[in-house]
Amino acid sequence: MARPKVFATRVLPKEAEEMLREAADLEVWPDYFRPPKEVLLEKARDCAGFLTTIEDPMDVEVMEAGRGVLRVVANFAVGYNNIDVAAASRLGIAVSNTPNVLEKTTADLAFALIMATARRVVDGDRDVRLGRWSNWHPLGYVGRDIHGATLAIIGLGQIGLEVAKRGLGFDMKVTYHSRTRKPVEEARHGLRWRPDLAAALREADFVSIHTPLTPETRHLMGRKELASMKPTAILVNTSRGPVVDCEALYEAVRDGVIWGAGLDVTEPEPLPPGHPLLTLPNVVVTPHVGSASIQTRTAMAALAARNILACLRGEPMPSCVNGEAAGKPAP
Ligand code: GLV
Repeated sequence: MARPKVFATRVLPKEAEEMLREAADLEVWPDYFRPPKEVLLEKARDCAGFLTTIEDPMDVEVMEAGRGVLRVVANFAVGYNNIDVAAASRLGIAVSNTPNVLEKTTADLAFALIMATARRVVDGDRDVRLGRWSNWHPLGYVGRDIHGATLAIIGLGQIGLEVAKRGLGFDMKVTYHSRTRKPVEEARHGLRWRPDLAAALREADFVSIHTPLTPETRHLMGRKELASMKPTAILVNTSRGPVVDCEALYEAVRDGVIWGAGLDVTEPEPLPPGHPLLTLPNVVVTPHVGSASIQTRTAMAALAARNILACLRGEPMPSCVNGEAAGKPAP
């Protein structure tokens, strides 16, 4: 029987590449940058499996191109807002993501941003390198305390919960805002639920965003929400850039509506050099590296590979997000 063809849109950690090569004809896009849309369309007409990243727009056109051929799209990420899951389901194409392997790593980065912003790690480092730091001063580089502060988690999924646990370890008070109450986590960790977003924002010293990007969460943090925050508060976003209105955020930090922001994700991404947000010393920006540890990226790649292989073998996939479609023939 012919080996199935699989297309990976980036070079992968070698363990995952080996797993795929053992069972499939794997083609890897060799460039650092994403393949152009024409390549996605061409490969969809020819390959049974795709291994994609968050930068690959797997839209209805690509899915249609794969009609009857493409059986599985395994995203190398826990978020999958780059994939038209409804179109995939309609065409019987299974879609998977990478949960349960990156939550702690991403929470570590969220906490790094909390600390870097609050304690001015990045502007301090920059000044030392540029020879701009001359002497110790009682008012030099003063930031904000983390211990004793209130941390509001917006979206208590697995990553949000891991950030909450880190906050508790730093003697923070932790609240959370999410649609559904999580009584088990409340009881286990002493978290306090805030069903009203504005109430959560009003009392928080740190706000950390952990919602997926959906039509409902686009610009969840806009002018009005930022205005509900304390002028001493810090906003951290490690979810998806468009959850925060970056123009409103720039104005809020510039005008002292809030104190600062730590962003691993932005809109647009990357921020172009010279973007107003990058002129503010109280804003720390990292290049979308929430899951970027060697161990976690290796685990994510292996999980994506296992999803592809399971689907192609007709076995249950470890983390399919549209289970109803998996294994069904294309209409
Ligand atoms: C990365 O952004 C992910 O969703 O895993």
